[in-house]
Amino acid sequence: MRVEDAEAEAAWPRKATAEEMPEPRKDADTQPAPAVSIREPVPEAPGQPEQPVHPRLATHRLNAYFGEVRAVRNATVEFPDRQVTAVIGPSGCGKSTLLRCLNRMHETVPGAGVEGDVTLDGSSIYRGGSSAIGVRRNIGMVFQRPTPFPTMSVRDNVASGLRILGRGGPSRSEADGIVEDSLTRAGLWDEVKDRLRESAIALSGGQQQRLCIARALATKPRVLLLDEPTASLDPLSTQTIEELVYELRTAIAVVIVTHNMQQAARVSDRTAFMLGGELIEVAATKTLFTNPSDSRTEAYVTGRFG
Ligand SMILES: Nc1ncnc2c1ncn2[C@@H]1O[C@H](COP(=O)(O)OP(=O)(O)OP(=O)(O)O)[C@@H](O)[C@H]1O
Ligand SMILES: [Mg+2]
Repeated sequence: MRVEDAEAEAAWPRKATAEEMPEPRKDADTQPAPAVSIREPVPEAPGQPEQPVHPRLATHRLNAYFGEVRAVRNATVEFPDRQVTAVIGPSGCGKSTLLRCLNRMHETVPGAGVEGDVTLDGSSIYRGGSSAIGVRRNIGMVFQRPTPFPTMSVRDNVASGLRILGRGGPSRSEADGIVEDSLTRAGLWDEVKDRLRESAIALSGGQQQRLCIARALATKPRVLLLDEPTASLDPLSTQTIEELVYELRTAIAVVIVTHNMQQAARVSDRTAFMLGGELIEVAATKTLFTNPSDSRTEAYVTGRFG
């Protein structure tokens, strides 16, 4: 086992304790938005040495193009390990494009281009012969609309990512264990444990989204990217996914794009604000919402535009 695999193994999520879980939602997305409430940071347990915070993932003067159009402009940002970073900003500002550069999904669009670099634990994901598939195993992604493989069963959807491990990958019974573990992590096991052979599209939208999260978790990624993962979900499914995101921060780096500022405040440690393809400001979530340093951030978070 490689050293980083051993690290990833050791870092595999544990169950969050009750104290670490967010307060239950009192506001549904459909209700008038209250002032953004900011979660206090979880205090370190006494006697525990402070965890070193290093950037698991980082962009370096990143530019992303669709043909001649530059959708991400000179973005340099670090995504620390064991933290959730929210990315906010008005529609069309480049949030999804930035996210899709972080695991080499952007290059799947015809005419798309990337300049600059993205590093995972200090190594470029674009240079030095890294394969896009290997990168996506370490940096999983979940989209706004659930994208289960429609012809596959619930079980095979979750196990599908394991196949790319190829030789030396898990045996069928090991894979079954990983499937159960991943579905449990995604908060779906109890609902599907008797339906593992059914088609994934027989599940509800919220269940399908948690299935996609389980599929992304099955390869034990070091980073999980979520692009508006609750945008098409009801409040209860949204809450389940927010709790999962909050729990994942004990183990991996998470980057979540959201239009819902209450959601960013509930689940994230840090927030990045984008405008016109630029990263305007990245700060601790509480700071960004209550004391931003850029007037454009302030205008956005106080609802004056966007
Ligand atoms: N496939 C594409 N081809 C050409 N231009 C694109 C493509 N996808 C996005 N763009 C353009 O790139 C810019 C950034 O789009 P992106 O989808 O990253 O924005 P976003 O911040 O995620 O918006 P939203 O909040 O609406 O999802 C926009 O101007 C958009 O029109
Ligand atoms: Mg988007």
